[in-house]
Amino acid sequence: MTFLEAQRQHAGLAENLRKHDYAYYVLAQPTVSDAEYDRLYRDLLDLEKQFPALATPDSPSQRVGGQPLTGFENVTHLTPMLSLDNTYSETELREFVARVQKLLKTESLDWIVEPKVDGLAISLRYEDGRLTLGATRGDGTTGDNITHNLRTIRSLPLRIAATAPGQLEVRGEVFLTRSGFAKLNAERIAAGEEPFANPRNAAAGSLKQLDPRIAATRPLDVLIYGLGHVPPGTALPEDHASVLEFLRQLGFKTPERTWRCRNADELIRAIHELDEIRGNFPYETDGAVIKLNSFALRKQAGFTAKAPRWAIAYKYSAEQAQTKLKSITIQVGRTGALTPVAELEPVLLAGSTISRATLHNEEDIRRKDIRIGDTVIIEKAGEVIPAVVDVVRELRTGAETEFSLPDRCPECDAPVAKPAGQGGLGVIPRCTNPECPAQLRGRIEHWCSRGAMDIEGGGEVMAAQLVSTRLVHNVAELYDLTLEQVAGMERMGEKSAQNLLAGLEASKKRDLWRLIFGLGILHVGTGVAKALGRSFATLDDLRRTTPEQLGQIPDVGDVIAASLAAWFAEPRNLALVERLRNAGLNFNSSLHTGTHRIQPFSGKTFVLTGTLPSMTRDQATAAIEALGGRVSGSVSGKTHYVVAGDEAGSKLEKAQRLGIAILDQDQFQRLCREAEAS
Ligand code: IVH
Repeated sequence: MTFLEAQRQHAGLAENLRKHDYAYYVLAQPTVSDAEYDRLYRDLLDLEKQFPALATPDSPSQRVGGQPLTGFENVTHLTPMLSLDNTYSETELREFVARVQKLLKTESLDWIVEPKVDGLAISLRYEDGRLTLGATRGDGTTGDNITHNLRTIRSLPLRIAATAPGQLEVRGEVFLTRSGFAKLNAERIAAGEEPFANPRNAAAGSLKQLDPRIAATRPLDVLIYGLGHVPPGTALPEDHASVLEFLRQLGFKTPERTWRCRNADELIRAIHELDEIRGNFPYETDGAVIKLNSFALRKQAGFTAKAPRWAIAYKYSAEQAQTKLKSITIQVGRTGALTPVAELEPVLLAGSTISRATLHNEEDIRRKDIRIGDTVIIEKAGEVIPAVVDVVRELRTGAETEFSLPDRCPECDAPVAKPAGQGGLGVIPRCTNPECPAQLRGRIEHWCSRGAMDIEGGGEVMAAQLVSTRLVHNVAELYDLTLEQVAGMERMGEKSAQNLLAGLEASKKRDLWRLIFGLGILHVGTGVAKALGRSFATLDDLRRTTPEQLGQIPDVGDVIAASLAAWFAEPRNLALVERLRNAGLNFNSSLHTGTHRIQPFSGKTFVLTGTLPSMTRDQATAAIEALGGRVSGSVSGKTHYVVAGDEAGSKLEKAQRLGIAILDQDQFQRLCREAEAS
């Protein structure tokens, strides 16, 4: 096939894939089967493998591209990203309407009401229809360049309709759907990670990642509600309702529902209506945004220092309740993580009786100055577990006591490691005793859980009994249990004992990804376990792989790679693997397709410089990529090889300075031949 033919075919495939993405992710109306989509996608990848130049940044294959950043670049917004004035009261809303009417000297105004999505504000720049920049709001004037993470959001078009103006900036909100949030948190808990407090924090945490592969695993979504900077003279609609329609035409997801209102009464009716239906939206909303429709009138109304005079946010109050904090208990998870739990005087909140709430961590307790005996405010936002959000200080008697996390594990009295550091996972205090009964109970329960080895009869109660009777000290010992031992435990009939043993026997045949997930390696949730199952034929292949090679696998970032390496470096874990092998467990993966197999140049970065005697740059790139390597434009400490031809300049000098291997064309071709043969 010639390059031109490939280019034509590629354009057709890309266009088709874009249409299917739009139907699936924006309209939620799929137009093809998964199998058909996969086929188109594979064809596209095949063409790009043959002709790497086709993998342009707007190709559907390039959502997760490039290497992790080392830091965020600042972006100065061409038009500031303002915030909105807030109100919680209908009276204030009426006052706002009256103010605008007075300012514009008319009572007949046209308003639009939109849901206020609870996420993070972003700005997107498109040039000639292609996404060139995505940024956070930051302080309103300057934000962070997060293009690499935003590109991973499938409902965000990398390319928009050709009818778009040459330069266009749009503004919107990145969020997680409620179901996406619930799934993400369940996976985090299963992987021994701290769950996010709410969808907003989860979205913020995802966009703050330097490695786009992490953002790509998060179920992020985006909704566009307006325009940003547009060069003067650009032909655009004259009011907000038409802009929303225009944005929809370009392929953006816009607010779920909007209302058009002419006065305060109509606005208040719309706000109530939104409040009634917003629980059915797939995402969390915390209010309504009221905006003047006409752009000409917006211009007349103008801005204050931080917000437009022509818009306001009406916030719904979250459901809250007041109750007494009786005590703070500590939960010890399967990874040893210590979590404080608020034990409350039972209270009714949003239709259910609440007697426990999360306190997140010690730092949060200190920041909110929560003391045992306090009267506290608890809040339930969406599906999230209730949280203690505040303290009623006026009700303090002086008898309240401050809380501090114990230095020793409440379960086994082993020292608690409290790593210093700011934010992230590093700050989770953990029990340091791998034999801690609480951790062991959690590990057994996790191993038996439906998402892991799916062992019937191996629930919470069983795990607790097996640990307290000291019959089992690790998950491999489950397979040494005899019928007499299990039936001999308290409250255990012969039948349940038989069930458990049958469940254990059946679990020996489970697929490798379930076993990997069941091992409970930090950061390894089901998604990662399956990705590993696709990449490795056996557990032994996984064990022998370097962190660098692991980092090349889709869905496996550096943090996960390091966690796997640390797990396999631990002698007690290797001993566990051997015991599982001897017990007859399956170590083979049925998911292994070979498509993601570790290739000879996996994890290797090449830089090409100068002119090679008989190879074009494209040919050299194709050779490297075909063997799983990566070509970078600049030399750094992370470069493995520099392939240098005639008139190689500063890159060659830098490589010499850094002591990086330098190859001429012959040496390069020999390396490729050896790699192919390996
Ligand atoms: S309009 C100049 N519309 O609310 C006004 N904002 O409190 C620009 N938000 O930073 C904002 N949904 O992140 C607008 N439908 C919506 C919104 C919305 C959520 C957020 C946005 C903004 C914040 C202001």
